[in-house]
Amino acid sequence: MNAHKRFSLDTKTALVTGGSRGIGRGIAIALAQHGADVAIVDIATEQETQSTLDEIRALGRQAWFFHQDLQETDQLAALAGRVFDQLDRVDILVNNAGIGSQEHFNAISVEQWRRVMAINTDAVFFLSQAVSERMIAAGTSGRIINTSSVNGLVAEAGLADYNASKGAIEMITKSLAIELGAHGITVNSLCPGMIATEIAEDFPLAEGFEDYFCQHIPLGHRFGTVEDCVGAVIFLASPAGSYVTGQNIVVDGGILCEQVPRLPFMKPPGMPGGPADPAAEG
Ligand SMILES: NC(=O)c1ccc[n+]([C@@H]2O[C@H](COP(=O)([O-])OP(=O)(O)OC[C@H]3O[C@@H](n4cnc5c(N)ncnc54)[C@H](O)[C@@H]3O)[C@@H](O)[C@H]2O)c1
Repeated sequence: MNAHKRFSLDTKTALVTGGSRGIGRGIAIALAQHGADVAIVDIATEQETQSTLDEIRALGRQAWFFHQDLQETDQLAALAGRVFDQLDRVDILVNNAGIGSQEHFNAISVEQWRRVMAINTDAVFFLSQAVSERMIAAGTSGRIINTSSVNGLVAEAGLADYNASKGAIEMITKSLAIELGAHGITVNSLCPGMIATEIAEDFPLAEGFEDYFCQHIPLGHRFGTVEDCVGAVIFLASPAGSYVTGQNIVVDGGILCEQVPRLPFMKPPGMPGGPADPAAEG
């Protein structure tokens, strides 16, 4: 297979939740750039999703929109039915929609906990169930890609419900990878670090947080962009990723590499006792 075909999604149809804006929008457009037709599911209106749909169509691909609040867990089987009625097939499911808000653990209400878990976790599980059933019936070697988070791997203060919801996605991903492997369906997760989108815009953080956070990001000392995230999804969706399942791909500029930041406390190179000190090399 030539290099181009290894990353080609020609003839594939993808379903992306939360594709109206942010990371999901970027994923939907990137899938279309690689040849896929794309359906978007979102709680946002079709009008609010229009620019994503227009970009997909401008690439010569088909685009569809399905309005759905993913919090309505008992409607997800019917949603899958509507999607398959209209598209005929789904080769790639990207469970991307998610919400988060910042709150001390003790202040998280039952209502908030349930809302976060319903959208971030239950929808991933039950939409995967409904879509994979149909993939299996159609003999599709499908791909399921779940947008998790670095918070699915390491916790952050103020996000206890979100951390739990993303940790659950990691285990759903591995569980489904085992059970769907026999049907040739791969299941993986994308774990973005801090990506500049609207999700965290209202987090009540004191000034200086962004600078403080960025100091600890090895690559460029900057937040990630939507474009930084999409390559991992294309890899997992494409023939190049066909033997990869049950894995997470972390796209975080390297922030999870370190336990407690030590670099600021190390002597600069060339100082006595520092890494490039010839006397120290002895
Ligand atoms: N931005 C980050 O720093 C970051 C980091 C790690 C993981 N993530 C994850 O990436 C995913 C996308 O986040 P984003 O940053 O693009 O956020 P965003 O808020 O910009 O976009 C989220 C999308 O999901 C949709 N959505 C929200 N609730 C929904 C519901 N009930 N039903 C249907 N659609 C709904 C929104 O309308 C929107 O289109 C989320 O799962 C998020 O947890 C984001």
